[in-house]
Amino acid sequence: MKIFSGNSNKILAVKVAAGLNIELSPVEIFMFPDGEKRIRIQEKVLDEDCVVVQSASIPPDENYMELFIMIDALRRSGAKTVKALIPYLGYQRQDHIFRDGEAVSLEVIANILKVVGMTEAFSFDLHSPKIPDVFPVPMHHLSALPVFAEKIKKDFKLDELVLVSPDMGGIRRIEEISDLLSNIPFATVTKNRDLSSGAINDSGLDGDVRGKTAVIVDDMISTGQTMVEAADLLLQNGALNVFAFATHAVLARDAGKLLQHSRLERVVVSDTIDIPNFKSFPKLEVLSIAETAAKALKS
Ligand code: R5P
Repeated sequence: MKIFSGNSNKILAVKVAAGLNIELSPVEIFMFPDGEKRIRIQEKVLDEDCVVVQSASIPPDENYMELFIMIDALRRSGAKTVKALIPYLGYQRQDHIFRDGEAVSLEVIANILKVVGMTEAFSFDLHSPKIPDVFPVPMHHLSALPVFAEKIKKDFKLDELVLVSPDMGGIRRIEEISDLLSNIPFATVTKNRDLSSGAINDSGLDGDVRGKTAVIVDDMISTGQTMVEAADLLLQNGALNVFAFATHAVLARDAGKLLQHSRLERVVVSDTIDIPNFKSFPKLEVLSIAETAAKALKS
């Protein structure tokens, strides 16, 4: 097997390669003055099983384009299979039509990936369990939740904890992690979003958090608004303190500042998305999913 990396998350790609007992194979990614890229695979891949690691994090369109061209280059160079490890699958929140006239952007991405030559895909903590159905080739849905569960077992007393889903859509995720933690109780924030602006209109709480340490678990942190508002709501409802866990640290806009100055004690994320220094903040802790990815690619 040969493994290649795009520019979005090379640190993770090196770790995944180490988990496969191989080194990253070289690829030249050259940018022209106008922003177009030229990609050249610098190793023989004829009849080889190849993997490309690329997160579709900010800027998603640029990172996807790089991935499309890398897969095309591998196919044209004679690779037997091309697996894409897309730890964070950008556009996944557009997996169906919410309002008349919209595109299904994720389906557009999935179809392009197939056309350029992707034979299988791997991704982490997808927003909806139905997302693999959008892909015309096998999409393996991996999860950071077992890594988070181990961390929670190590850092907290389970009988003092309540898990919290920050929205109704996350209940399945919370049930899953509760299962991994001997079925500890959970609560759910009930929030309503404006479909055109994405703003949160109102929120309430279903479940009891009084006297407990609340651990919010979500798939992603984008602007950070959901986590910060959920933390305030949990403290208003009697939680002693609040921690946040999320697989994908999208960290759009000033999310880092917002989270650092919030009432959250700590924010734990995975390394599906590389976090540059300027986006990092003291309350942030990053756990690696590299081992999980390597295991899945091997099997
Ligand atoms: C929403 O359904 C997702 O699960 C996240 O809760 C959401 O995308 C987080 O966004 P933000 O950090 O901008 O509130």
